[in-house]
Amino acid sequence: MADKIRVLIVDDIAETRENIRRLLQFERDMEVVGGARTGKEAITMARDTQPHVVIMDINMPDMDGITATEAVLKELPNTQIIILSVQNEPDYMRRAMLAGARDFLPKPPSADELVSTIRKVGQRALTQAAIAPSVQGPGAPVSASPAHGVHGKIIVVYSPRGGVGRTMVSTNLALALQTEDTPTIIVDAALQFGDVAACLNLQTRNSLIDLVDQVGELDTELVDRISVHHPSGLKVIAAPARPEQAEAVQGPQVSKVLRFLATMFHYVVVDTSSALNESTIGAIDSSDIVVLIGAPDLPTIKNLRIFFELSEALNLTPQKIVLIMNRMDKRYGISAEKVADLLKQPILAQIPLDDRVVPLSTNNGEPLILQDRTKPVARAILEMAQAIKTRLAEIAHSNQEEKKPAAVAKVR
Ligand SMILES: Nc1ncnc2c1ncn2[C@@H]1O[C@H](COP(=O)(O)OP(=O)(O)OP(=O)(O)O)[C@@H](O)[C@H]1O
Ligand SMILES: [Mg+2]
Repeated sequence: MADKIRVLIVDDIAETRENIRRLLQFERDMEVVGGARTGKEAITMARDTQPHVVIMDINMPDMDGITATEAVLKELPNTQIIILSVQNEPDYMRRAMLAGARDFLPKPPSADELVSTIRKVGQRALTQAAIAPSVQGPGAPVSASPAHGVHGKIIVVYSPRGGVGRTMVSTNLALALQTEDTPTIIVDAALQFGDVAACLNLQTRNSLIDLVDQVGELDTELVDRISVHHPSGLKVIAAPARPEQAEAVQGPQVSKVLRFLATMFHYVVVDTSSALNESTIGAIDSSDIVVLIGAPDLPTIKNLRIFFELSEALNLTPQKIVLIMNRMDKRYGISAEKVADLLKQPILAQIPLDDRVVPLSTNNGEPLILQDRTKPVARAILEMAQAIKTRLAEIAHSNQEEKKPAAVAKVR
């Protein structure tokens, strides 16, 4: 599979970022890896996401796009920067060219122009990366075969209610994230009746218990032996075959296993049960982000509210929780806006109810994301995956910002 062109969007106006993202979301050779609001944010996000192409606005609050262009290129010389500018800014254009920008587009750009310009300069970046991969810096995409030393992200898919679609979302999300550049593993931490392997039409006697049992001696070879390989390239750690095998599992052991997997894989997606038991809490403890699944019915909404109340005790900041509404349908009489209002929480993405496509794919062990990607459910999952990636980049950025004052304090 050819590499995708990784695109970072930099603009202080959320609507502009969203419009560009929307224009690009169905381009199969492109992937939006983040959206930065300021020049400074652009520099850290570029460092984190290693884009091939940056779409850069000029006028931004803290640092203008030209200074940001210079700074990004200093660290990532292969990155191609496209400047978005309002007409009649010849001076800006000249300065942007001197700073190393590759191309210019009027603001707002037309869909055709935007896509063709990104493709043109993106191809150049891909070729340069292939010739001199080391120039991409320390965070460069990891190789196809997982290697120790990656700083992967742990994505825990949870819901305080059974049957809302955790497994459907986690398996399809993992498949959406899995690429040659971003090797991904899904871990079934619904230890008692987990069904991730079944949903992916895989069989194995191995399970997460085998890793938990050897938590002091984890190594890449052991993980390779215990995981099952899906034809897509996704790796899978299954739940044990019998529920009683889960009994002795301790939360910290699960955290440790997941953190180890994050040194091997770009993304570690974790499916859970609805119980806040040892394995769920262990998973949440180690998470970079919790994808909370809701459905438009009152018992689920009530449980979500309780979960949000508990979130602080679980050490979860609001930024670390993203709410996804699944099984959305007008006939239920509860809209996403209503749920957001009831919970006083924003909804990151919505997945529609589809009583034909989804159960069929579950029952056949053929994830819907690997079938027709133009179907509304598949499209919603792709949009959700994108929004989760963006949130992860934002969290990484906030973490870095948080560390800064501490570092200064130390020097003093
Ligand atoms: N958007 C949807 N539209 C229609 N059916 C759906 C949708 N999402 C999930 N389902 C169906 O609902 C059922 C439960 O989904 P799933 O197993 O993913 O939920 P879960 O939260 O993991 O449940 P459990 O509590 O058993 O772990 C499955 O049959 C699945 O096909
Ligand atoms: Mg499940």
